[in-house]
Amino acid sequence: MAEKSKILFIGGTGYIGKFIVEASLKAGHPTFLLVRESSVSDPVKGKVIENFKNSGAILLHGDLYDHESLVKAIKQVDVVISTVGHLQLGDQGKIVAAIKEAGNVKRFFPSEFGNDVDRTHAVEPAASAFATKAQLRRTIEAEGIPYTYVSSNFFAGFFLPTLAQPGATAPPKDKVVILGDGTAKAVFNKEDDIGTFTIKAVDDPRTLKKILYIRPPSNTLSFNELVTLWEKKIGKTLEKNYVPEEEVLKNIQEAPIPVNIFLSIGHSVFVKGDQTNFDIEPSFGVEASELYPDVKYTTVDEYLNQFV
Ligand SMILES: NC(=O)c1ccc[n+]([C@@H]2O[C@H](COP(=O)([O-])OP(=O)(O)OC[C@H]3O[C@@H](n4cnc5c(N)ncnc54)[C@H](OP(=O)(O)O)[C@@H]3O)[C@@H](O)[C@H]2O)c1
Repeated sequence: MAEKSKILFIGGTGYIGKFIVEASLKAGHPTFLLVRESSVSDPVKGKVIENFKNSGAILLHGDLYDHESLVKAIKQVDVVISTVGHLQLGDQGKIVAAIKEAGNVKRFFPSEFGNDVDRTHAVEPAASAFATKAQLRRTIEAEGIPYTYVSSNFFAGFFLPTLAQPGATAPPKDKVVILGDGTAKAVFNKEDDIGTFTIKAVDDPRTLKKILYIRPPSNTLSFNELVTLWEKKIGKTLEKNYVPEEEVLKNIQEAPIPVNIFLSIGHSVFVKGDQTNFDIEPSFGVEASELYPDVKYTTVDEYLNQFV
């Protein structure tokens, strides 16, 4: 069997990064984490880093904004996975420059992990965030860097515990707000499964220069279907408040940051159907649950049971 690629994580202490690092360690990849000195000494982040170290991760001190540290770290691995957050998305060109200089990288996974940013009908402010990710794709392609873009769609943990109800701390028991007419299909994936699928793709030639869509059939539901599923679980019919698109657009304009960001993502996914309104063509993409039928992923149905 071929050796497992060495993987460097940039952003491995972040929300989604942690799950992908865990999957990498579990799959037996030599796993390297670029960590900032300030995070190692932080009580919470330091603990996360310590746990990863105890599980076999190799720590490399560095920073996205320290070119030498990036090149030095990248030279030690085969694959780079970036899971940097919103504020650093536009600075990932620095990783591309370091990968170019290092010259040894077999695959780069930029920080995507959401909608396919080349196939979107988002309005501002989501439109700009998506455009930043799309622009990085063009840079990676122009530089001839081998890549996989992971379109993981929604993180289950962000949306299902409240059924995407603004300001809620639990799923609704009486009333539910639905953007649009509730028929557009969205995709909700548990974070551990996003980690597992991402790591499966690392050494897979079928995902090279492709978008890996995590769109398992059991996790692809319209908002109406999601509400029906929830209603069955709690044995109660909810009052439904449908918000027409014009009103959603007006609310986005009037909402403060970051509410306007969440609302504009909601508009793109729940009103426009941007996670599912196109077919995955073999020329640009592959679907994870089809490529890896052996992965027992958590379904939305199973996920919701914990809230009943
Ligand atoms: N699909 C969805 O539902 C969904 C939801 C949220 C986010 N996302 C996407 O997921 C991706 C990751 O977002 P996230 O929310 O998981 O990120 P996050 O929690 O904000 O984590 C950011 C990571 O970047 C690291 N970082 C920040 N500045 C750095 C620097 N100068 N040098 C090196 N590392 C640095 C942080 O390290 P420290 O620990 O040192 O601070 C942390 O590990 C983004 O592309 C985002 O758009 C998708």
